[in-house]
Amino acid sequence: MGVFQGEVTALPPDKSISHRAALIGALSEGVTEITNFSAGYDNQSTLGVLRDAGISVVQEEVDGAYGCRIRKVVIRSTGLWSFAEPGKPLMCNNSGSTMRMVAGILAAQPFRSELVGDSSLMKRPMKRVADPLRLMGAGIELSPSGTAPVRISGTRDLRPIEYRLPVPSAQVKSLVAFAALHADGESRIIESIRSRDHTELMLGLDTIDQPDGGRVILIPGRKSVPARPFHIPADPSAACFLVALGLLGGGSEIMIRDVCLNPTRVEFIAVLTGAGAHIVLENRRVIGGEPIGDILVRSTPDLKPLVISDKAVIAGVIDELPMLSVLSAFATGAFEVHNAEELRTKESDRINAVVFNLERLGFDCEQYPDGFRVIKRRCRPTGPVSVECFDDHRIAMSFAVAASATGEAIELSQSEVVGVSFPDFFGIIDLLKS
Ligand code: S3P
Repeated sequence: MGVFQGEVTALPPDKSISHRAALIGALSEGVTEITNFSAGYDNQSTLGVLRDAGISVVQEEVDGAYGCRIRKVVIRSTGLWSFAEPGKPLMCNNSGSTMRMVAGILAAQPFRSELVGDSSLMKRPMKRVADPLRLMGAGIELSPSGTAPVRISGTRDLRPIEYRLPVPSAQVKSLVAFAALHADGESRIIESIRSRDHTELMLGLDTIDQPDGGRVILIPGRKSVPARPFHIPADPSAACFLVALGLLGGGSEIMIRDVCLNPTRVEFIAVLTGAGAHIVLENRRVIGGEPIGDILVRSTPDLKPLVISDKAVIAGVIDELPMLSVLSAFATGAFEVHNAEELRTKESDRINAVVFNLERLGFDCEQYPDGFRVIKRRCRPTGPVSVECFDDHRIAMSFAVAASATGEAIELSQSEVVGVSFPDFFGIIDLLKS
């Protein structure tokens, strides 16, 4: 069993906030300086798409905290309509956030554009993108299966919208908000289950909390966005992998610095502490509107099995579910999740991907349309097991954590895919090994 000790000061910058900082920079009037921008492939895809759509994006390395070199991005824009007709399809690679959120902006630009991605992204649902944008007056064409390529006939005359989100999705909320900034009047987005709220915070949008726990977001139309600097905190979804490593690796203690602790992102910590995990949040403060702090995790041999079915909790741990399920399976032999059909629409069908690999590793599992159950570990493999990563960074990292922490012979079908969100994942795990 691996023992992991030390302090992590160079966790990847948050993927969701990095995307939004770049996109909001492109919509703002003036010069937007973003420090600690993510080097992950997904965020680099957003910068590539912005450049190909006529926005000035300059990236350089500068000195950051703890003596680390960090990425600074400078975006120059004249405001809401500063995009230019791209001469080619815009390549979003593996990034659903790029494709969906950029679609909201391009729907408001008076030209045609087309968004494409890699084989994983070309299978993901885009009807949720097309529906609200069509209601606002943009022309959107998808493939017959409701997937990319997303072909957009944009218009300067978008109508304001009152839109109730059909799925709890921060990407859809954000694309509607970005489109609505261009509309001729105030728009309202209603979410009955809260999703991550970085777009609202970063744009300073007014919100109204609803008695049922939901929220209404108000977006003023055609109001210019003044440029402001952004500093990106460390990614809590990346921290989750190191938290699991610390919990599973006997005798481990890991301190993770300067992590975004936005309540819409750290539900996984509440779920884990509820199961007895030794996790402490320290040094809490607010920077640029986002709560930040350090996460201290100690190995927890007596973790209880995780059972997750509350819809609000599911929305709060949607990206962490692969790691939570693999952690619970290896630590306790059991796991259960329901109401999580959205997991089937991620970079891979994550219900199928986790169950497929756990079964290879000797766990008995049951799959449902909206979740799965790990019943028990029937047997331990006698030789090395190859885990199928399905082009999905979070599947690769979840099983890599299990392999490192338990010492079991698990090989990944793809390792480079971790670069989508956590390029130095293996390097950081090596540094923590004691
Ligand atoms: C994201 C929202 C979530 C999440 C994704 C990032 C975002 O997707 O899974 O990794 O940055 O808004 P959905 O909006 O599809 O739930």
